[in-house]
Amino acid sequence: MLRTHTCGELRIEDVNKEVKLSGWVQRIRDKGGLIWIDLRDRYGITQLLLEEGRSADELVKTARTLGREFVLQATGKVIERVSKNPKMPTGDIEIDLTELNILNASQTPPFTIEDNTDGGEELRMKYRYLDLRRNPLRKNMELRHQVSLETRKYLDSQGFIDIETPYLIKSTPEGARDFVVPSRMHQGEFYALPQSPQTFKQLLMVAGYDRYFQLVKCFRDEDLRADRQPEFTQIDCEMAFVEQQDILNTFEGLVRYLFKEIKGVNIEKLPHITYAEAMQKYGSDKPDMRFGMEFVELNDVTQGKGFKVFDDAQLVVGIKAEGCANYSRKQLDKLTDFVRRPQVGANGLIYVKYNEDGTFKSSVDKFFSQEDLKVWANKFDARAGDLILVMAGETDKTRKQLSELRLEMGEQLNLRNPNVFVPLWVVDFPLLEWNEETNRYHAMHHPFTSPKPEHEHLLDTDPGKVNANAYDLVINGVEIGGGSIRIHNRELQKKMFQVLGFTDEEAQEQFGFLMNAFEYGAPPHGGIALGFDRLVALFAGQDSIRDFIAFPKNNAGRDVMIDSPSVIADEQLKELGLKVDIKNPS
Ligand code: AMO
Repeated sequence: MLRTHTCGELRIEDVNKEVKLSGWVQRIRDKGGLIWIDLRDRYGITQLLLEEGRSADELVKTARTLGREFVLQATGKVIERVSKNPKMPTGDIEIDLTELNILNASQTPPFTIEDNTDGGEELRMKYRYLDLRRNPLRKNMELRHQVSLETRKYLDSQGFIDIETPYLIKSTPEGARDFVVPSRMHQGEFYALPQSPQTFKQLLMVAGYDRYFQLVKCFRDEDLRADRQPEFTQIDCEMAFVEQQDILNTFEGLVRYLFKEIKGVNIEKLPHITYAEAMQKYGSDKPDMRFGMEFVELNDVTQGKGFKVFDDAQLVVGIKAEGCANYSRKQLDKLTDFVRRPQVGANGLIYVKYNEDGTFKSSVDKFFSQEDLKVWANKFDARAGDLILVMAGETDKTRKQLSELRLEMGEQLNLRNPNVFVPLWVVDFPLLEWNEETNRYHAMHHPFTSPKPEHEHLLDTDPGKVNANAYDLVINGVEIGGGSIRIHNRELQKKMFQVLGFTDEEAQEQFGFLMNAFEYGAPPHGGIALGFDRLVALFAGQDSIRDFIAFPKNNAGRDVMIDSPSVIADEQLKELGLKVDIKNPS
């Protein structure tokens, strides 16, 4: 071994020990004959000491050639420091060097390897291996490892077995866009990388592996956001002979176990909220329930007063920001600008201040009397000092817009504390959603999701009204996971594809393997997948998943370190049948 200890290990009890450490040079200080070198590895930093005159001349000479990030092997004796550093675990000691071995030199790194680096995003991505040396990223990787390990422990304890499913599969038209891989042996044909192992895990249920799990890479060619990467990891699970509540109980158990083990937090029983209620009260199917600020609908008290915006609206709805009646004109204008941003897309915002003296001041005073506004305030249970913010328009759009404003107000009022965790289940999702562009229904979760048995008859008459046995796990406003009870009957699956606009031939061609399997004793089954990267980021209180993945893609879907995607050689293209050789067309 090139070391006897790590750089995070030695304490005052180790004084007088002869030790060997290996690591990277964090910092060198050379002051009047005394040279200190901070040596770093992933466990910590230990200070090395050299003294001109006392230490061997060769050693001092070598030390003066060192630069940041050189890789060293240092041999010496542990001594007590004269001036101790209580902020460092190794701060009581230093190593009096007797030997110094340069294992490798280093160029000056393009940014500082410190907790707060001076490196910009792009540079850090290009030199990701240097960025990964920094403490914040190291901690993220360790956290990820710990969550993975604990997840496996819990699922194993519940009888789940880890089975790998293939990465070269078949492209299907549902869901997001596929990444495809050309086949050399079958020119003109393509594999697709899985968006999830959905159909395979269902086939494993047919095969009798009644509790499956996998921490698995999934690939989706979609637009990127802070919580989306083109390749990401799921904790993917499936269970047979269960009903919805059994799955919720099992994964509620996982959530509780992980919070306890990883964060030391006890989670109460998870509340259930229906999709319809979530949309009505929070305008979102992933409500952040760390704070209230529930929507209050005002249609019945706002109509017929001559205010056209309200009279023409399908929905008039608002939120109450407690203690915000003192917002200035400028602050209110800023909120209006916020809802008018293209990302939110509202026309405007109406406010009512419930002043400390009991009077009201609103942006619609022309249309609504003090008595009218009092009635609104009562609906919100508002008190003097509160601010009411109201939006109006088409129901779905207005809810979404107000949801953005609610989150913004939560942010402004510091109600979204990253150290507070409020998980919940959103249940009873609609089975289908209408897509204006394709002019047909799409599966809200995926086409294998089972309708609620009591709604099955509506599939023929009013498919939009059918609810599914589908559920999402939401924590702090983030969709952490989603799943459903599946269809396990050929006829129902066939019917589902019909509703989605597939001909029977298309359905058979794309998904025949699954429907055929349903004819060989498919048990009732269901499951869930949790976004592993999102879960780890959430534990660390962060919104972006990028720094919880060792080698992520940038916002444009590129890996700037290895420079991918990249063009490939003509030879390779020809071999794959993707380019015709003009001289020798085959
Ligand atoms: P779904 O598509 O809801 O379900 O995905 C499950 C969870 O995976 C996470 N996730 C992502 N994380 C990072 N980057 C992405 N691009 C990304 N896309 C999704 C989310 C999401 O909740 N087969 C079904 C599950 C099932 O029915 O069992 C599925 O994949 O946290």
